[in-house]
Amino acid sequence: MSEPKQHHNYIGGQWVPAKSGRAVENRNPADTDELIGGFPDSQAEDVDAAVAAAEAAFARWRLVPAPRRAELIFQVAERLVRHKEEYARDMTREMGKVLAETRGDVQEAIDMSYYMAGEGRRQFGQTTPAEMPNKFAMSVRQPLGVCGLITPWNFPMAIPSWKIMPAIVCGNTVVLKTAPETPLSAEHLVRTLEAVGVPPGVVNLVHGGPEAGAALAAHPGVRMISFTGSTATGRRVAQACAGDFRRLHLEMGGKNAIMVMDDADLELAIDGALWGGFGTTGQRCTAASRVIVHRKVYPAFCDEFVARTRRLRVGNGLDPAVDVGPVIRPSQLDKVMSYVRVGLVEGAKLLTGGHRLEGGAYARGFFHEPTLFGDVDPGMRIAQEEIFGPVVSMIPCDGLEQAVAIANGVPYGLSAAIYTRDVNQAFTAMRDLYTGIFYVNASTIGAEVHLPFGGTKATGNGHREAGQAALDAFSEWKSIYVDFSGKLQRAQIDRE
Ligand code: UN1
Repeated sequence: MSEPKQHHNYIGGQWVPAKSGRAVENRNPADTDELIGGFPDSQAEDVDAAVAAAEAAFARWRLVPAPRRAELIFQVAERLVRHKEEYARDMTREMGKVLAETRGDVQEAIDMSYYMAGEGRRQFGQTTPAEMPNKFAMSVRQPLGVCGLITPWNFPMAIPSWKIMPAIVCGNTVVLKTAPETPLSAEHLVRTLEAVGVPPGVVNLVHGGPEAGAALAAHPGVRMISFTGSTATGRRVAQACAGDFRRLHLEMGGKNAIMVMDDADLELAIDGALWGGFGTTGQRCTAASRVIVHRKVYPAFCDEFVARTRRLRVGNGLDPAVDVGPVIRPSQLDKVMSYVRVGLVEGAKLLTGGHRLEGGAYARGFFHEPTLFGDVDPGMRIAQEEIFGPVVSMIPCDGLEQAVAIANGVPYGLSAAIYTRDVNQAFTAMRDLYTGIFYVNASTIGAEVHLPFGGTKATGNGHREAGQAALDAFSEWKSIYVDFSGKLQRAQIDRE
C-alpha cells in the first residue's frame, strides 16, 4: 500500500508540516477504507507562526488599494468556476454530502467571491455636513488587523469563503483553522487564493483540532475571531475573547421550524420539509428539525411525509441516485442514536427510521435512516436541542398563534419558515418570528450570499455574516473631521 499523501499548513506563503510533525488521517465517512490524506495536527506553536506571518503581511496588505485587493478575489471566483466539479467531488469524498449539494457549496464560495470583489469599489462610508463652517465630516472603514477564522465541516468551502473574502477585501489578513474533517476543501480554497497571487501571509491555513482552535481564539495578536460551530464551543471561544475585549462574531446552533398552515400547498410543504430536514443529512445549522403542522392537515401531511421519507435513498454521495449521505463521524452517529432513544423515552411516536444502517453498502460508513417522530410535545428534548442529524420532530398545532409560540419557544433563533396561501398569516409570521432568517413558502435553508446570515438568542452574538453585514464584522469605523477654517472651532460650543 502506498503512503497517504501528506498535506501541510500554509503559513507565510509556504506549505509546511506541523512543527511537532504530528498528522492525522482524513477518511471518507461513506467508506472509511478510502483515505483522503494525512493532514497536520497543529498546536499552539503552529498558530503562533501563522499569526506572526499574518501580522507581518498586514503592514503592506492594508495599504493595497481595495479595488486591487478585490481584483484578486474576482480571479478566485473565476478559478473556482473552472474547478467546481473537482472540488465538489473531493468535498463529497471527505464529508459525505451528495454531489448536488457539494456543487452548491463550491457555488456559494463562487457567489461570495464575486460579491465581495464588488466591495473593492464600495465599502461605502458616510460623508455628512459638519456643524461648523469650513469643516468636513466623514466616516471610513478601517481593517482590524489579523482575523482568526474557525470554521465547521458541514459547509467546508462556503463558510471559509464567507469569512475570508470580506476579511481580505477590507484589508485584514487571516488565519483560517478549519474543521479536521474537511481539510482538503480548505486547502483547495487556499491554493486558489495562492494561485491568483494573494501575497504570502495574507491568508494562512492551520489544520488541526480543538488545541489549534483554542490557541487561535486566545492569541493576543488576533484582533477578531469569526467562529461558526456548536454553541458549546462558541461559548468557550467567547470566554477566550472576553478578557481583552476582542471582537467576536459567533454563528452557532439552530432548532429551526417549518410551520404548515391548513391552507398550505401540502405537496410543496412536504418538498420543503424533506429538503430542510434531510438535506446535508440534517447536518446544517439551518436544518428544519421541527415541522409544526395545523391539526386539520396533520394526518394527511404525516402520511405523505412518512411515505416520501421512506423513499429517500441513503448512501455514498458520489452516487447520483443517492439523496442522503452519511453522518460525518462515529461520535455524531452516536449522538443521533442517543437522541432517538431520548425521543422514545419521552413518549414521541417513531413514524419511520430510527436505526443505524449497517452491512452491505453501509458496512464501512456512518449511515443512519432518515427518522421522523410524530406527536412530539414542543417541550421534549428532541424538539428543543440541536441534534445535527437526520431526525425531524412533527408537532401538531391549533393555528398560527400557537405555531408561532412553539416555533419561538426554543433557545435558538436562526431560521424559520411558513407554508400558507394567506398573505395575512404570512406577514404576521414574518413579523413575529424571533429569528435571523425567515422564509415564506420555502424551506428553512437556502440563504443567498448578499443578505445577512445569522440568528438570535443562542445562535449568535448579534453579528451577521454575508452581505453588507459582513463588512461590519470585518472592519472598524473611523470618523474623520477635517477643519479647514484655520482657527480653533469648538464643537457644541462655538455656535454663531
Ligand atoms: C449552515 O446551515 O450551516 O442557507 C449554513 C443555507 C446555506 C448555508 C447554511 N446557504 O442553508
